[in-house]
Amino acid sequence: MHILVCGGAGYIGSHMSKLLATSGFELTVLDNLSTGHLQAVKWGDFIEADVRDANALDRAFTRKPVDAVMHFSAKSLVGESVNHPELYFDNNVVGSRQLLDAMRRHSVERFIFSSTAAVYGTPETKVIAEDHPTRPINPYGETKLAVENMLQQYAAFGIRSIALRYFNAAGADSTGDIGEAHNPETHLIPNVLKSALSEGSNRLKIFGTDYPTHDGTCVRDYIHVSDLAQAHFLALQHLDLTEGFNAFNLGNGAGFSVQEVLASCEQVIGKSIAHDIEGRREGDPAILVADSHKAKSTLNWQPQYPEINTIIESAWNWHKNQAY
Ligand code: UFG
Repeated sequence: MHILVCGGAGYIGSHMSKLLATSGFELTVLDNLSTGHLQAVKWGDFIEADVRDANALDRAFTRKPVDAVMHFSAKSLVGESVNHPELYFDNNVVGSRQLLDAMRRHSVERFIFSSTAAVYGTPETKVIAEDHPTRPINPYGETKLAVENMLQQYAAFGIRSIALRYFNAAGADSTGDIGEAHNPETHLIPNVLKSALSEGSNRLKIFGTDYPTHDGTCVRDYIHVSDLAQAHFLALQHLDLTEGFNAFNLGNGAGFSVQEVLASCEQVIGKSIAHDIEGRREGDPAILVADSHKAKSTLNWQPQYPEINTIIESAWNWHKNQAY
């Protein structure tokens, strides 16, 4: 099979590319390198192009027949989406529509979509299952939900699709050759590790200690990026058994507070990490934990790296070799 991996130069897309290549799939990475990195494109062919460019997509689909599309190309910063919703609707919604219409033109029917827990908004239950109401509280979540809704309607064109709703993607490939590199970095684990590496500059900030959680800091469900990639792989196989649209949560079902993540990082690195307590960051729900039973029972997905220390060790293995 030949897979078109849109956004394959990014964090999750590059881990996906590696899994596809090492599993014997052919792949082409299509990425505009706006947030991805050329150094992360180590597998398959590469096309530097934007998913909103219909001509570039036509060229990508005609140079070698495509059997399935995996779509990771998106803007994904909640804060930025609040200040620049237009960028999010353009990149995420218009881009996805262009991609789906290119698939229609070239008779490609299989589509795996990178979605998010942000489609749910403020949780109404302790753990979140797929039937939880979808009421996003920021433009980022709105754009991902808009694409999911589009996918449901595009079933009318024979497109079979699966949206994978990630909770907190973390960690890095076991070899340490690819990892998480956002600029600016807003995520907790990379920021803790960067703080540990930079001796004073990049000092960690903890956003809020007055949440209704056991230690006052926000609780999240961290899931290893290689386990996310594995779920895409299984979802691709599942597409051949189904019609229309389906959505699956991907998380470990265990919540860790910001303080607990910091403590795990200190344990893994073997030193204490200086930090400052700041006020709450806008738009952060107190607790986000996944119910991922559906992915486990339907896709036979079983995370291989569920332990928080293992996730952090893999992230550290990558970060400690970066120049900060
Ligand atoms: N945090 C800090 N300091 C930092 C970075 C983060 O205290 O330097 C805190 C945040 O305030 C939050 C927690 O650590 O309480 C986790 O923050 P992340 O930025 O790592 O992750 P989020 O939970 O905000 O984001 C994730 C996904 C998004 C998705 C969102 C849904 O990365 O794509 O969940 O709410 F939209």
